[in-house]
Amino acid sequence: MRILVTGGAGYIGSHTVRQFLTGGHDVTVFDNLDAGHKRAVPAERFVGGDLRDIDHLDHLLVVNRIEAVVHFAAFAAVGESVTHPAKYYTNNLLYSLQLLDRCRRNGIGKFVFSSTAAVYGVPNEVPIPETAPPAPVNPYGNTKLAFERALADYAGAYPFGYCALRYFNAAGAASDGSIGEDHTPETHLIPLVIQAATGKRPHVEIFGTDYPTPDGTCVRDYVHVDDLAAAHVLALAKVTPGAKLTYNVGVGRGYSVREVIRTVEDVTGKKVPVKHGPRRAGDPPALVARADAIRAELGWAPKYTDLKAIIETAWRWHQSHPNGYGE
Ligand code: UFG
Repeated sequence: MRILVTGGAGYIGSHTVRQFLTGGHDVTVFDNLDAGHKRAVPAERFVGGDLRDIDHLDHLLVVNRIEAVVHFAAFAAVGESVTHPAKYYTNNLLYSLQLLDRCRRNGIGKFVFSSTAAVYGVPNEVPIPETAPPAPVNPYGNTKLAFERALADYAGAYPFGYCALRYFNAAGAASDGSIGEDHTPETHLIPLVIQAATGKRPHVEIFGTDYPTPDGTCVRDYVHVDDLAAAHVLALAKVTPGAKLTYNVGVGRGYSVREVIRTVEDVTGKKVPVKHGPRRAGDPPALVARADAIRAELGWAPKYTDLKAIIETAWRWHQSHPNGYGE
């Protein structure tokens, strides 16, 4: 299939692009390199451009005779979305809606969307099923949910189908250590803990130790980035006009912040200096997926079900790329 992947040079995007290419698809990566890295994708697949430039996108859709769009390009920092919601509404919603409508006008009927567990807000029920009422607690989650709703309305009215994948916590790197996670600034737990283990940071701060969880720290469902990527390949194969698919993508098992730190110590053989800090605003105590639907309906099964195996791949990437992509 001829696929346009927006944000395809980013962390999850680049791992997904690699799997689409391995599967024989014809992929065009569209990325403004705000958070992506040119070296994360094959040069001949890369087109530099911004989502706001809808004419550029439209041109690519037509000239490359695109049959499906996989849409990653988005801002994804929860804290920033609270202080700068305009940035999130403009990019994640307004420009995404423009892209969606150009798909419609150009007769492109297949769409896979990067959604998030943030649509659930603070869930009443953990593990969280897809049927849990969405109730985001920050602008980031609001923009993702709003776009999911637009997708559903389009699929109800036009010859168009979609799959929205609600990611839990993406982690790890390609098993050969060739591509991995490189954010500036880094805010995610696993890379921060690894950087504290190697001395690149003086310590890692635990955001809150008084949560109603077994050890008082937040619990998250860490899912390997290659397993997330595989979910996109399966999702695209399943999308047909009229399809309205929404799946959680998580392993279904939660680990606390302290467990992550202990596992990094175990994998690296290094002590991680830790400080205890206050809670970070907007952090739900526990986010764990109920992921039976994607297993049953798409045949998805994570290859990495154990945190240690996930962190081993992240560690390999950090050792071979101590400064990330160095771009
Ligand atoms: N944490 C710390 N110290 C740090 C960084 C993180 O204790 O220095 C904790 C957080 O409080 C949280 C856990 O580690 O409990 C994981 O934090 P991350 O920032 O790695 O990930 P989040 O769970 O906050 O966010 C992820 C995605 C978001 C998405 C969200 C869904 O990065 O894009 O899951 O709620 F919205």
